[in-house]
Amino acid sequence: MESIAKKPFIFANGVSLKNRIILAPMDLRMSLFDGTISQNDIAFHKSRSKGVGMDVVGSAFVSKNGNTVTGSVGVDNDGKIEGLNDLANTIHANDTKAILQLVHAGRMTNRINTFGEQVMAPSSIKGNYGTLDVPREMTRMNILKVVNDFSTATKRAMAAKFDGIEIHGANGFLPQQFVSPLSNKRCDQFGGSIENRLRFIEILIRSLSSTISQFDQGKFLLGYRLSPEEFETGGMTIRDTILLVKLLNTLNIDYISLSLHDFKSVPKTYQSNFSILEIFKAITKIPIIASGKIRNVVDTNLALQNSDLIAVGTPLIASPNWAPELTGVANTSKKMQSAFEIGISEDIYKFLR
Ligand SMILES: Cc1cc2nc3c(=O)[nH]c(=O)nc-3n(C[C@H](O)[C@H](O)[C@H](O)COP(=O)(O)O)c2cc1C
Repeated sequence: MESIAKKPFIFANGVSLKNRIILAPMDLRMSLFDGTISQNDIAFHKSRSKGVGMDVVGSAFVSKNGNTVTGSVGVDNDGKIEGLNDLANTIHANDTKAILQLVHAGRMTNRINTFGEQVMAPSSIKGNYGTLDVPREMTRMNILKVVNDFSTATKRAMAAKFDGIEIHGANGFLPQQFVSPLSNKRCDQFGGSIENRLRFIEILIRSLSSTISQFDQGKFLLGYRLSPEEFETGGMTIRDTILLVKLLNTLNIDYISLSLHDFKSVPKTYQSNFSILEIFKAITKIPIIASGKIRNVVDTNLALQNSDLIAVGTPLIASPNWAPELTGVANTSKKMQSAFEIGISEDIYKFLR
C-alpha cells in the first residue's frame, strides 16, 4: 500500500510542503541550560527533518517566566537568534519547512525552570502534575506583557529565517489555562463565560497576525496547537474547544494542530459516535494536523481521511529513517539508536520503549 502522505501540500498562502508528514513538536531538553541552541539540537533536526515536509521545533519559551523545563529551546532574547538561524538553515538544507513552536508555561512550571522568576497564571491555583509552584494571578498588565513577549518572539523567529510559528495552546500550558474552568476563576473580562475565557487567545492571535503582516510578505505561517479536552471533572470540554475552533475560523490561522494520544480517539467529555478528527474536520476549513500513534502506512492513510497533515513524534525519535522509508525515499532500516547516539536523556528515551 502506498501512503497518501507522499503527496505535496500547499497552504492557502502558497507555501508548499514536499509531503504531508510533520516532525511533531517535541521538547527533547537538549538545548543549553539558558535555552541557546546546542549542537545536539542541530544534529537531531539535521537527521530527523530529512524525510518530512515540515519540522516543528517544540516548546521555545518566549520569556524566562514562561519556560516549561530546563533544556528547552529559548526565544526570549535577541542573543538566541544566531543559534535559531543555524537550526532553521539546517532544516532548510533538507528542503523542509521550519516552524518554531512558542510556549508560555503559565502555572505548569516552577522557579527552577523559570530562572528564579515568579510563576504566573490566570488564577492562583496550583496545577496537579509534577513539581509545580503556586502561581501568582496575572494582572491585566501581566497579560498584555505576555502577548507582547509572544509578538517579540515571533519577530525573532522571522529574523532567524523560520517559515512560521505555532502557538502552543495544548498540553495544559498558558492559553489552555485561560480556557479551562479548573485553572481560570477570574472575574474580569478574561474569566467566567466561555467568550471571556477565549479572550486571551483572541488577543494573542490578533496581535501575532498583525506582527506577521507588518514584517512579512504573507508567506510566514501561523499555526495553533490545541488539546481537545481535559479529563478532570469540571475541566475544559470538547464543546469549549469547538467554540475555540469557531473563533479560529474568524482569525488568520494557517493550520490547527491537534495534540492527541491516539488519532482515532473519540471524545470523553461528550457522547459521540464520531472521532475527534471527524468532528474537527467537519467544523473548520482550516488545514488540520492529526497526531498520536501514527505508526505505519495504514495509519497515515486513515488519519489523512479526516486531516490534511500528520505529525509524528516518537517513531521519528527512534529512527531518522521512518519518514524516508514510508515515502519510499529510503529503504535502509536502521536499528533504534541509543539515548547517547540520539543525544537525549534516559528520561526521554523511556518514551520510546
Ligand atoms: C519527549 C516528548 C516531548 C514532547 N514535547 C512536546 C512539545 O514541546 N510540544 C507539543 O506540542 N507536544 C509535545 N509532545 C507531544 C508530541 O508532539 C506528539 O503529539 C505525541 O508524541 C504523540 O505523537 P506520537 O504518538 O507520534 O509520538 C512531546 C512528546 C514527547 C514524546
